[in-house]
Amino acid sequence: MNKYRKQFLLDHSITHLNHASFGATPISIMHEYSHWQRKLEMNPVDFIDNQLPNLVQESRQKLSIFLNCDRDDIVYCPNPTTALNTVIRSLNLKANDEILTTDHEYGALSRTWNFICKKTGAKLIHHKVPFPITDEEDFIDSFLSKVNQRTKVIFISHITSPSSIIFPVQKICDYCNEKNIISIIDGAHVPGHIPLDIKSLNPDFYSGACHKWMCSPKGVSFLYAKKSMQEMIEPLIVSWGYEAEKPSHSQFLDYLQWQGTNDISAYLTIPSVIDNISDKKWKNKIAVCKENIQKVRKIILDKFDFTEFSELNYNLQMHSIVHNLQIENIKDKFYNNYKIQIPINVHNNYSYFRFSVHVYNEISEMEKFIDCFEDFMKKSF
Ligand SMILES: Cc1ncc(COP(=O)(O)O)c(C=O)c1O
Repeated sequence: MNKYRKQFLLDHSITHLNHASFGATPISIMHEYSHWQRKLEMNPVDFIDNQLPNLVQESRQKLSIFLNCDRDDIVYCPNPTTALNTVIRSLNLKANDEILTTDHEYGALSRTWNFICKKTGAKLIHHKVPFPITDEEDFIDSFLSKVNQRTKVIFISHITSPSSIIFPVQKICDYCNEKNIISIIDGAHVPGHIPLDIKSLNPDFYSGACHKWMCSPKGVSFLYAKKSMQEMIEPLIVSWGYEAEKPSHSQFLDYLQWQGTNDISAYLTIPSVIDNISDKKWKNKIAVCKENIQKVRKIILDKFDFTEFSELNYNLQMHSIVHNLQIENIKDKFYNNYKIQIPINVHNNYSYFRFSVHVYNEISEMEKFIDCFEDFMKKSF
């Protein structure tokens, strides 16, 4: 067995080719997580009232260095949905304001936009991403051609969930900064996956998940807000930081950091999580994962009449292939028969599957998937 597999709690009877959905956490980090939980339980009042604020600050400090931004421009949130809801619900949108986005965004966030547009009369403009993407410049030009006087916000994923595409967010943020349009970047799949330098990117708002590619315990994500935008952020949950008795230097932190009593031990593991993913051997294994994705991609495209959402090579640990088989409950049927955990879904009428792999995966598992998928097609359940 792959030596990394032993470092995770993943069930050995399952072939796990879906790291991207919820991540997986090394046992060593789970121990650290439980160490913080035990410390909290030994003296909850002292730990939460007196120790936690400094510990969370140290953890944010380490994360901010990893992301290259200022410590107090990021705040922890349990997930990107919470982080981005906070931003979206703080925007003072008016009837006929426009939000430009793509049709490859994460469903929960599209719903958030639908909700806010129904309330305010603002309009969500979905740019239809070409199928397949063959040229980044063409994509950017046609996307930005939808901007007009009413465009208040551009909302876009850095890496898309269904299609595993890296959108050119640097160019989009540069454009937004020049034209005074609010940029909100959904970077759920980015931290620990591709390099992220927030200072250079310079978005207005950015959210990333730490429990996906950084492999932290579940429920760790962050919201970054540019200093000049922090004042406009309202708390999604109003708690003690609103009208704080002793306000800190940052309203942004006061409003968002304390959201009522909760176990936030997972946030405290981030310094160890970053040390873990900075290990040279771990990084080497990730490079192999990326090569394996490319090899498997090639095998599949040579063997089957399948296509891809994008013909550009992104060098990621995830990749989506469009197969267009029309089988009801395909994902469950496939899982029940072969015990392979992989998303097989439909996006914009395209049926696709998405590999996503981490250090604990071997290429043989993806090859097994190919054999099983071939068998599945023959049997046409
Ligand atoms: C692109 C994208 N955005 C946001 C999310 C966040 O989801 P959640 O807040 O449910 O963790 C995901 C989760 O997979 C995602 O893929």
